[in-house]
Amino acid sequence: MEKYQLVIIGSGPGGYVAAIRAAQLGFSVALVERYPTLGGTCLNVGCIPSKALLDSSEKYYEARKHFSEHGIEVGPPTLNWEKMKARKDAVVRQTVSGVDYLMKKNKIAVYHGHGRFVSANEIQVDGGPRLYGEHIIIATGSKPTPLPGVPIDKKRIVISTEALSLPEVPPSMVIIGGGVIGIEMASVYGRLGSQITIVEFLDRILPGLDKEAAAEMQKALSADYGVQFLLGYAAEAAEVGPEGVNLTIRPRTGGEPKTLSAHTVLVAVGRRPYTDGLELEKAGLSTDERGRIPVNEHLQTAVPHIYAIGDVIQGPMLAHKASEDGVFVAESLAGRKPHLDYRLVPSVVYTWPEVASVGYLEEELEKLGRPYRVGKFPYRASGRARAAHEVRGFVKVISDAKTDQLLGMHVIGARAADVIAVGVAGLAYGASAEDLFRLPLAHPTFSESIKEAALGASEGQPLHI
Ligand code: FAD
Ligand code: NAI
Repeated sequence: MEKYQLVIIGSGPGGYVAAIRAAQLGFSVALVERYPTLGGTCLNVGCIPSKALLDSSEKYYEARKHFSEHGIEVGPPTLNWEKMKARKDAVVRQTVSGVDYLMKKNKIAVYHGHGRFVSANEIQVDGGPRLYGEHIIIATGSKPTPLPGVPIDKKRIVISTEALSLPEVPPSMVIIGGGVIGIEMASVYGRLGSQITIVEFLDRILPGLDKEAAAEMQKALSADYGVQFLLGYAAEAAEVGPEGVNLTIRPRTGGEPKTLSAHTVLVAVGRRPYTDGLELEKAGLSTDERGRIPVNEHLQTAVPHIYAIGDVIQGPMLAHKASEDGVFVAESLAGRKPHLDYRLVPSVVYTWPEVASVGYLEEELEKLGRPYRVGKFPYRASGRARAAHEVRGFVKVISDAKTDQLLGMHVIGARAADVIAVGVAGLAYGASAEDLFRLPLAHPTFSESIKEAALGASEGQPLHI
């Protein structure tokens, strides 16, 4: 049996980052991964390949629709889908081999094979050795939530993994779920020419993000790529035929079902924690009603030397949150005093315009009965946005009505993913909206709009509108 101070199961952005941080802090570390490549969902079939396709498809769309507005005449571009996918695969390969390098550099022992508990300190790696860990971190991530009645055949009815590598750009696609995956994939295939229909259970898309930004996003997807939305419908059943898929959907409030036909159906109705075959019970652990591993504020499970992080526990299912969890546990084990606040974790949708959000939503504050003020600045009033021909969107700053303390920031528009970083820093350091207004942000930038929105929240009136 191989002995380590720390054994980590799962090499996603939770597990592999925890491994590096623990090794940096002097621990002997083993990392167990059931797939041949490291990096988990995010690097292999999530964040990285989806962003590679989003960036490529955005360039294609720009060349087709917007270059001429800048005085660049290139003629209609043609799509080489095989090459676009090959570039995406190369980006993934490069990124996961970067993780291999980091494991070697930090002297982390990597074991490939499914890991399962034998006891509270022992992990059996299938086809490999038994490992003893003084401490263990479970970082086994998540898998897509299945939809009863709509079985995945991986050809015509697919999940995000297949959607990142479809053999052809489908002429038509129905996406079940108007969440983050649905909206990002609608952007990729909408830009490449697919006729997209989104079926969403709720009466809005992008739940969990700012309502106004979500409404703007819906408008942008309709206007730019002709995406159609069927809100308030649940998908019930699907049948695959030679021409494609017939999908039955029904209004959420009841009533007559409708049938839609499409070449391809993408199911993106959320993800659920993954603990299959982990044999948690052998360690004295179990999952809650949503399949998550319960943890306390130190991310300890019911067995104190076993921790759990990332998508397999509570909190947003995001890569940077998983990594924050991993660093938190490694530093706690080393006797440091890190802190964790999921309210500071930003959410980003990498479409164009991008959507980004951190802190409280207006509806959350309304529910809490906490009085707040809102300042909003439209990109169309920003010099940089006009120069870039990117005038859609806004920055919204929310502050406490009495104290002016920053409570949230929500952005839709070009580079929102980067603009939101100022809001994260402001919230982390307890800034007021006035503090944000007083930041000397460079001109002309998209981020300057934060100052304007912050003044709007603080005093009711931005400078430039
Ligand atoms: P995972 O990344 O899921 O890693 C878990 C690892 O554990 C896997 O490699 C798995 O094989 C391994 N494992 C599981 N059980 C065992 C076992 N018993 N033995 C050995 N190994 C095991 N998040 C963002 O923040 N930004 C994005 O842009 C983004 N884009 C996404 C796009 C898509 C299409 C998808 C599906 C997700 C996206 N996410 C994004 C979410 C992100 O991928 C996850 O939040 C993140 O990967 C969670 O990290 P994790 O380490 O908890 O788990
Ligand atoms: P999601 O939770 O974002 O959205 C799922 C959507 O499906 C919801 O809007 C829900 O109302 C809807 N839905 C559920 N059942 C339905 C039904 N029967 N019919 C119609 N609609 C239904 O989940 P998604 O998009 O699958 O993404 C999974 C996770 O991956 C998310 O938690 C997200 O955090 C993460 N992710 C993050 C990305 C990013 O950070 N940019 C990109 C992609 C995924």
